[in-house]
Amino acid sequence: MNRWKKRALSLSALVLAAGAVLLVFSLQPEIAPVAPPQASQFSAEQIARGKTLAALGDCKVCHTRTGGQVDAGGMAFNTQFGTIYSSNITPDVATGIGSWSYPAFKRAMRYGINREGHYLYPAFPYTSFTLTRDDDLQDLYAWLMVQPAVSYRPPKTELHFPFNVRQGMFAWNWLFLTPGPLPVNPQHSEEWNRGAYLGESLGHCSACHSPRNLAGAEKGGSHHLSGGIVDGWSVPALNSHSPAPIAWNHQQLMQFMRTGFASSHGVAAGPMAPVIAEGLSQLPEDDLRAIATWLASFQPPWPDHGKEVSIQAEQQMMLANSPGARQFAGSCMACHAQNTGPKLYGVRPSLMLNSNLYSDSPDNLIRIVLDGIQHPATPELGSMPGFRYQLNNQQIAVLLNYLRTDLAQRASWPDLQNRIEQIRQQTEDKS
Ligand code: HEC
Ligand code: HEC
Ligand code: HEC
Repeated sequence: MNRWKKRALSLSALVLAAGAVLLVFSLQPEIAPVAPPQASQFSAEQIARGKTLAALGDCKVCHTRTGGQVDAGGMAFNTQFGTIYSSNITPDVATGIGSWSYPAFKRAMRYGINREGHYLYPAFPYTSFTLTRDDDLQDLYAWLMVQPAVSYRPPKTELHFPFNVRQGMFAWNWLFLTPGPLPVNPQHSEEWNRGAYLGESLGHCSACHSPRNLAGAEKGGSHHLSGGIVDGWSVPALNSHSPAPIAWNHQQLMQFMRTGFASSHGVAAGPMAPVIAEGLSQLPEDDLRAIATWLASFQPPWPDHGKEVSIQAEQQMMLANSPGARQFAGSCMACHAQNTGPKLYGVRPSLMLNSNLYSDSPDNLIRIVLDGIQHPATPELGSMPGFRYQLNNQQIAVLLNYLRTDLAQRASWPDLQNRIEQIRQQTEDKS
């Protein structure tokens, strides 16, 4: 045997030994199955609160596949590591979580380990859910257990090696999971703490609003809530890095979370729309008020000149006579000029104050112009038609460049036309 072979052998022995040690530490016991709990075990208040908490946690949004039954799972999450399917979380014994005791449910939410003892992947946002208090987890469990049981087995999740070895999540959790519940921050009011709790735990705002590292974990510290990317949409920062030209204030946050539209900002157009439709809009007033108090605390004090800015911008918009302005007048103005014409369609947000115009990435605007807004966060907002077939890449580029440079007064986005073509291709099948 030559030297290299010997080295390779001892190296593989080392890797094997390390693997064995990891395996021993990472093995988790199965929690014994139980008979599904009876509805009479839970109080009506518990179940009602559990329903609100399930809405806040968007369980339905991720656990219901298109055309499938509520919470029966099977929604596909395409990650860089492969495709993960959400589980059936109805109380069906064979295919869902019907045989899960409360301790089994709690372990999944707090530590990302399921009843059988398998590690779950963080496409399930347990790194946020872990921060939930026990009493709330109990109410959530009560609500889930009294829902209709659906017999459905989602497709099997198969990731590429080595990510298919669920045991590997032991190391990931060791690095990136800080088990909850969330501690109280004594420097802030009770309401602020309540808002932080709701937003950071079941609300999992940071799952989309924080950037992630190469291992797919949220970046913390000053990166927390500083913006991210989800399903090809750029997600604006909610902390002091917010791109909004007028700072978000308490009233605007309340309006946005309740209706999907804030008069000084705009609408929830992409992945934020279901978060509002299925989640935030269902919350009681005091929960929303607390979340708004928490988020507003990251913003500078509010300059109250939102209206002026948008009216000025609209006048400017109507006077301008560049190719972009003409394109806008022809394709968009009928619906997007607040001060003129009959109000035929939904809310017709003034685009001037929209965070997307001030973002480093044009992606959200490109998506909205190509495919419109087919599923408004709340029906009153109306929907917007897509322009995929009416406008070519060059026309869209001229139009967006006008919005960016004339209205938002920012440097134009580089390479816009190519970006439009890329997104057009990526979203082809959706139209
Ligand atoms: C962002 C999407 C997302 C949201 C929101 C979400 N889940 Fe999940 N959940 C998943 C995915 C994906 C899996 C499967 C993970 C895996 O296979 O490793 C999962 C797995 C689970 C499991 C493990 C089930 C099993 O049989 O192993 C439970 C329990 C669960 N989710 C409960 C919930 C509850 C309760 C909520 C709402 C409070 C919720 N989830 C919200 C994506 C989500
Ligand atoms: C038929 C009316 C109509 C036309 C034409 C139209 N829009 Fe819209 N647009 C709407 C409505 C209604 C909404 C809000 C929809 C919602 O939230 O569900 C909207 C929303 C938007 C948003 C999201 C704003 C935000 O706050 O995030 C953008 C961006 C936008 N439109 C751009 C355009 C552009 C650019 C054009 C021209 C190419 C255009 N729209 C043409 C009706 C229209
Ligand atoms: C599934 C991912 C996702 C989750 C979870 C999520 N957001 Fe969002 N959010 C987005 C995206 C994407 C946008 C921007 C595009 C759009 O309208 O969808 C957005 C936009 C927003 C905006 C508008 C910001 C601006 O400057 O225009 C606010 C405010 C907001 N989200 C608050 C929240 C809060 C509060 C939570 C937690 C309770 C939350 N979001 C959870 C994806 C998410």
